[in-house]
Amino acid sequence: MKHTRIKDLLNATEYGQQVTVKGWVKTFRNNQFIAINDGSTLGNIQAVVDFNSTDEALLKRITTGAAIAVTGPLVESLGKGQRVEIKVETLEILGDSDPEKFPLQPKKHSLEFLREIAHLRFRTNTFNAVFRVRNALSFAIHQFFFDRGFVYMHTPIITGSDAEGAGEMFKVTTLDFDHTPRTPDGKIDYKEDFFGKPTNLTVSGQLEGELAAMALGNIYTFGPTFRAENSNTTRHLAEFWMVEPEMAFYELEDNMDLAEELLKYVIRFALDHCPDEIEFLKNRLSEEEKNKPQAERSEMDLITKLHFCLDNRFERLTYTEAIEILQRSKPNQKKQFKYLIEGWGSDLQSEHERYLVERHFKKPVILTDYPADIKAFYMRLNEPDEQGRLTVRAMDILFPGIGELVGGSQREERYDRLVQRMQEMSVPTEELEWYLDTRRFGTAPHSGFGVGFERLVLFVTGMTNIRDVIPFPRTPNNAEF
Ligand code: 4AD
Ligand code: MG
Repeated sequence: MKHTRIKDLLNATEYGQQVTVKGWVKTFRNNQFIAINDGSTLGNIQAVVDFNSTDEALLKRITTGAAIAVTGPLVESLGKGQRVEIKVETLEILGDSDPEKFPLQPKKHSLEFLREIAHLRFRTNTFNAVFRVRNALSFAIHQFFFDRGFVYMHTPIITGSDAEGAGEMFKVTTLDFDHTPRTPDGKIDYKEDFFGKPTNLTVSGQLEGELAAMALGNIYTFGPTFRAENSNTTRHLAEFWMVEPEMAFYELEDNMDLAEELLKYVIRFALDHCPDEIEFLKNRLSEEEKNKPQAERSEMDLITKLHFCLDNRFERLTYTEAIEILQRSKPNQKKQFKYLIEGWGSDLQSEHERYLVERHFKKPVILTDYPADIKAFYMRLNEPDEQGRLTVRAMDILFPGIGELVGGSQREERYDRLVQRMQEMSVPTEELEWYLDTRRFGTAPHSGFGVGFERLVLFVTGMTNIRDVIPFPRTPNNAEF
């Protein structure tokens, strides 16, 4: 018999209909009540077995984690917590699960433990909810851009360039490390390598995205990016997904407007399409917060926080204004910051970003016009201020609990300025002639930004570690599965 998804059955009203359900046993109580989940929804359906008429050997095989198929009429449930249940007439074990060995028991497991069994953690309610929200957010991103006529561009994963100029790249090679071919002066001879030159995994699709935007107008990328930065934090991955729109004829203001609109759209989409998951995650977070000292607990629950973000215009201010606020701030005066703000020019650490967002403004913040020295070569240079300080048309969007969620800028479209900046920052112009061509032929103002997708999922799910919002996280010393 064809099986029905539990999601559909839980909403069904046609009592008495004969149904088949296939799924995994969550719990089996009193030799009678099986809670079955098939992944179609967070909810389980209850199947009731008549233990008097069921073979004992079969009953013993109904264990947490086992895959089963049950058939019987869908009846009104007398039990609490569910409207319908299945009166089991036939039950088949599709795959046993030895209760002595199955690591997921019907009890609370720590997220750390579940990370070690990431291949099985999909079966928990938490990860069921997280990956369903991740899916909705991902779909929402495509929907948002499609509705606005953006072209989804697949930029390469393997590249020969360093888009961010930060040198945090994973090499891609087929050379035999034990016998690397050498040039006469002893250097590795990349001519012998697969691509005939050094290549790496991309850190960003932006530069290729710009090429496309300078013809198609508005484009976006959404794909995996890789960073070999040795940051073992709750917000960094070595492999993460990034959404990078790039728009011709956009200036920084337009760029900020689009980013704010996108973030609000996808958060609302998740609230609308995953209400049960977000409710579950809200409760999970509240439980987790109970273990924290009062002072560290957040003032808002997850759903309130998401609405709060939708209902408020993101605060926009310049880096220079932010530095003034930070310098005057209590944690700086009382030397509570790990990195004290010495003055204009220093890079902001996440403690500073979080102070601005969580304590000063208490809402998402867009910082603009950072010092040129701490930002990438492609950002548009401003005229020097009265004190001769150089800034670029950068924008970072900072979110509560997350810090930097978005990084972007208006691009330097003026050929001479761009080349000069590249030389000053030792970015090889020879390797980026193709990029410079956009500035040689029909250059135009344009802008773009990158959203760290996992950081977005982190915010919307209220999870606290980025390793828990991507199925198989890659971090220093960890590439399991
Ligand atoms: O600020 P980033 O480095 O900007 C770029 O890569 C630009 N090319 C984007 C653009 O203008 N098209 O990275 C963008 C975002 C960050 O704000 C952060 O959310 C996320 O990507 N990100 C990371 N997420 C997880 N793990 C990491 N190691 C990340 N590094 C950056
Ligand atoms: Mg950044």
